[in-house]
Amino acid sequence: MDDQAYDPAFAQAVLDGLAATPKRLSSQYFYDAAGDRLFQQIMASPEYYLTDCERASLQEHSDAMAVALSPGGPFELLELGAGDGSKIGFLLDALHRREAEFIYRPLDISAHVLQLLAERVRPGRPWLDVQPLAVNYMDWLAQPRRPGIRRVFAFMGSNLGNFSEAVAIAFLAALRGAMTAGDFLLVGLDLKKDPAIIRAAYNDSAGITAAFNLNLLERINRELAADFDIARFQHCPSYDPKSGAARSFLASCCDQQVYLAALDRRFHFAAGERMQMEISQKYDAALIDRITQAAGFAVAHRYYDERRWFTNQLWVPAGG
Ligand code: AVI
Repeated sequence: MDDQAYDPAFAQAVLDGLAATPKRLSSQYFYDAAGDRLFQQIMASPEYYLTDCERASLQEHSDAMAVALSPGGPFELLELGAGDGSKIGFLLDALHRREAEFIYRPLDISAHVLQLLAERVRPGRPWLDVQPLAVNYMDWLAQPRRPGIRRVFAFMGSNLGNFSEAVAIAFLAALRGAMTAGDFLLVGLDLKKDPAIIRAAYNDSAGITAAFNLNLLERINRELAADFDIARFQHCPSYDPKSGAARSFLASCCDQQVYLAALDRRFHFAAGERMQMEISQKYDAALIDRITQAAGFAVAHRYYDERRWFTNQLWVPAGG
């Protein structure tokens, strides 16, 4: 690839994914400005239950979480991949009620997202010490920890489910490596349930999830001067109740070529060929046991929404 106006990591990921068999693109690239807006719409859609379930779980159990987190002295609450502040707010308020001594440090690659988040969480919370960090949190983990202050990581929204099991374990093991006795990880995980409910969540009737997937092709067109014809690809979600893997694919509606001018590469799509876009893993107790053990965590507390569709859990370093 020559000197470019495009993001080389994005270009390389697209190139690798389109050259692979079967083809794949990574959902980590869904979130450009249009993708962010579409994800907001997904979260507001009637079929996408995850957000409401996690909010309900946090609202109901934030006082119990604060009780579990408070002993052991001051801590920094490190939220990885900051959300919009609405869910974490329940925990912030509960920690304040317990008079816990903590700093809230949302970490996100986007300074803009962090600014919006800070604007949302600050009003009505004059006591809150918010210190946003615009960083790649995986790189940031390598930094030495601040002495005398515990770490409580938060990784919410079932974001872990967007990693394959191997990647999830590697990610958790890296987090575990940055933790010591007295630290916690608060994780949100979507649970296995009636497959029809899961299938509807990833195939909403308004077509927002389809647009969310197709938007990545628009991004490739814009950033890599490609000529994907969006009308010639179709959103094809699947859910396997046994493994708990909800996957989304884009299927080529016909035999076609796509040219990426910025990379001077052409790719052939056969009629019906599917390109994997995203995994959204659904969990059960056995899978949670497997990944916590593999990554060096023990489950300290489990919290659920009323229907037990979603769980927030506090994990601690095993043997730490
Ligand atoms: C961000 N993530 C947890 C969402 C999920 O449910 O996997 C992304 C999403 N994809 C389609 N709808 C929502």
